[in-house]
Amino acid sequence: MWGGRFSGKPSALMLKFSESVSFDRRLAVFDIQGSKAHAAMLAHVGLITKKDRDAIRAGLDKILREIEAGRFRWNTRLEDVHMNIEQALTKRVPAAARLHTARSRNDQVATDMRLFFKQTCAVLQAKLHGAGRALLAVAEANRDVLIPGYTHLQRAQPVPLAHHFLAWLEMLERDHQRLAETADHANWCPLGSGAMAGTSLPIDREFTARALGFVDRRGRPRVTQNSMDAVADRDVFIEFASACALTGVHLSRIAEDLILWASAEFGFVALPDAFCTGSSLMPQKRNPDACELLRGKAARLQGNLHTLLALVKGLPLTYNRDLQEDKPPVFDSFDQTALCLDVLAGMLADLEVNAGRCAAAVADPALLATDLADYLVRKGVAFREAHQAVGAVVRLAEQNSVRLDRLTLAQVRSVHPAFASDWTGMFNLRRAMAKRRGTGMPGPVQLQRQLTRWRRMLD
Ligand code: ARG
Repeated sequence: MWGGRFSGKPSALMLKFSESVSFDRRLAVFDIQGSKAHAAMLAHVGLITKKDRDAIRAGLDKILREIEAGRFRWNTRLEDVHMNIEQALTKRVPAAARLHTARSRNDQVATDMRLFFKQTCAVLQAKLHGAGRALLAVAEANRDVLIPGYTHLQRAQPVPLAHHFLAWLEMLERDHQRLAETADHANWCPLGSGAMAGTSLPIDREFTARALGFVDRRGRPRVTQNSMDAVADRDVFIEFASACALTGVHLSRIAEDLILWASAEFGFVALPDAFCTGSSLMPQKRNPDACELLRGKAARLQGNLHTLLALVKGLPLTYNRDLQEDKPPVFDSFDQTALCLDVLAGMLADLEVNAGRCAAAVADPALLATDLADYLVRKGVAFREAHQAVGAVVRLAEQNSVRLDRLTLAQVRSVHPAFASDWTGMFNLRRAMAKRRGTGMPGPVQLQRQLTRWRRMLD
């Protein structure tokens, strides 16, 4: 393709070293889409005939069918997906020798990748909502189950298990939002930027952008505004990898909660057999491997993000061949994030909640110590003083080896005179939960409101 200037051929080692078709062939569908739009534009401005355009289009469609059927012969000697397709096309359709008019692989690959991001963001968004729906279903099915919420992994205060599930849903929804923004940032057409300085030929960039769907909400074409930036910029790659990495972090935290909850020590949930494995040595074992892999994949997704950041960091403008290394981490981030989301959804769909174990854990009256302090506040005691008094009451119960709610009125009054005969009323869990009425709180009215909100958003 660029042989004119050369008298010697690249060495076999160089071909092996520099080829990217082994991984960028997955861009074929976008590359063909881009070439068809480019040919249409060339015909529109009169740089090729309509007949040539139609021959190019038909030839590209045929090649795409062959690729999809696995019948296309990829050749690593032709370096990348772009040259493989162009060469195969030119062999069959002589007019294709005009296809690369006013185009470089630099703006071509930038366009292919932006099309890739627009599609894959939508795929991941759909998967996030799939996992979200599975999450919402377990939340709805267990709306009456209470568990201790934790800080420092120490029991803190009672919350509905569903409130915990909905916290995960908030995390996933932010990931969804980030992908929407990434797709929006991808939605600018670089085609026409050429190698880096555009072209001397009279092309119509807006035509190509429109043909490829690079348009704003009102259908106006969105074309990149600087030819040098357009071929050098890899921001969207990094944003995409970042969105995947953060999704991975969220999935990892969810997985960690599930691993703890599925342990004998907690016993709040049982993970489905389909997502657990046994031990080759210990017959009793049932290991949460899927969750552990979710945790592990998060590291890999962060690695991909770091690879891309490091790749671009010291590069002079504009295109440098280093940039060919941008694709494997992006593809891997997409593939792994997609898999992880499917696994989470599958696991949640058959998650079993052990209501008995949850009830036993949340029965500890010490979880309502803060409510007891609030009780004193309602009697006019300053919060700091109330906190001190309840702390002393908790210590007293410990010293006497009784549950907090089994101390006598005389005992608690010896700590603070504001305690009255109604003090044990604080230990009614349902009543304690009902008091949490504010937005974002775990009370039953709020919980119902949130479940309804999510239903509306996810259906
Ligand atoms: N395979 C190349 C890449 O992914 C395409 C662009 C090549 N451009 C060039 N000037 N060698 O980066």
